[in-house]
Amino acid sequence: MHDLVIVNVQLATMVDGYGAIHDAAIAVQGGRIAWLGARADAAPAAQTIDGGGAWLTPGLIDCHTHIVHAGNRSDEFEARLDGASYEEIARAGGGIMATVRATRAADVDALLRASAPRVLRLLAEGVTTLEIKSGYGLTLESEATMLRAARRIGQLLPVRVATTFLGAHALPPEFAGRADAYIDDLCATMLPQLAGEGLVDAVDAFCERIGFTSAQTERVFCAAARLGLPVKLHAEQLSDQGGAALVARFGGLSADHLEHLTQDGIDAMAGAGTVAVLLPGAYYFLRETVAPPLAALRAAGVPLAVATDCNPGTSPLTSLLLAMNMACTLWRMTPAEALAGCTVHAARALGLHDDIGTLEVGKRADFALWDIARPADLAYAMGLNPCRLVVNGGVPRAPVVSWPRH
Ligand code: NIG
Ligand code: FE
Repeated sequence: MHDLVIVNVQLATMVDGYGAIHDAAIAVQGGRIAWLGARADAAPAAQTIDGGGAWLTPGLIDCHTHIVHAGNRSDEFEARLDGASYEEIARAGGGIMATVRATRAADVDALLRASAPRVLRLLAEGVTTLEIKSGYGLTLESEATMLRAARRIGQLLPVRVATTFLGAHALPPEFAGRADAYIDDLCATMLPQLAGEGLVDAVDAFCERIGFTSAQTERVFCAAARLGLPVKLHAEQLSDQGGAALVARFGGLSADHLEHLTQDGIDAMAGAGTVAVLLPGAYYFLRETVAPPLAALRAAGVPLAVATDCNPGTSPLTSLLLAMNMACTLWRMTPAEALAGCTVHAARALGLHDDIGTLEVGKRADFALWDIARPADLAYAMGLNPCRLVVNGGVPRAPVVSWPRH
């Protein structure tokens, strides 16, 4: 007998488009999907949940966030609306460095307190897997603190956390004028030590005029490869640096942002199976006007993921459903593409596609149950959260969870 069966649901399996199965049921055994099919064929289980005709999707996956950080940058938001650019603010010592100053002053508990409201909001919307980057510490100790806070979130809350080391996010002041020396230190000391502690699932960098050059990024990727860690990249966000082609050359999981991506980059990504992670929150919040080249990405068959990029500077966004809406409204992604971008393709962007992202027998039983008439409603209803129930590894929970007391 199965542990759990959810009957009377419409399944969006996300295998080949929505992969809809109407009047269906899905059974769980040992935290994994054991069976799915027509409701009439469902066998009895230890626990039965009646879905009341609602839609059941894979749990949502936010595959690109900087959600662990201290402080906020609403002052910079005001300055940008007054005419200052993101790059000007960064060059004047604000931007990422402003958050670095706040984050360095915080310990793990303070980071958890600061991040809790953001994480809980994602969880209420059916997020069951969350990627969290470091990159606001920029010292061994402070990057470790960020990554420990990220791991702690995965232990305290019903969410699977994938950590990404983003030590090459900005040049810390201690290394002013010595970017290559910082990258030396990152490759020789920071990354190996953090990886040795089990804190790093993947490695990322910011390849940009205000970040690191492609040569420096390549050295970071070589260090990751020596440790057997997969890579991804903030690429072509503000300008074309050839980052997408570089990360593809390393067999990278994803290239993220991509507003200034060229055809060469697209071809390289298609050849390597590198996912395009599109971040409409940052595009919107920076009032960008150059959209990522969606038609060319589609034509090349590059998988498209969508994420919040939750961060204090370019995307203080804590709703993956709103990111889906923005991807559709701002760029004409289809609602089916947007949902695939937060499930099956987001899983691929984390290297977890064998385990999560679709409703298929053998995959982890991570689900969200929605009070909607059709799957497109998820991208459609701006600011509405129709999530009724979430299942994490076979364990049902209410969408809204609170921070555990200790
Ligand atoms: O994804 N562009 C680099 N990193 C972040 C922004 C970081 C920040 O401004 O704090 C991003 O947009
Ligand atoms: Fe980012």
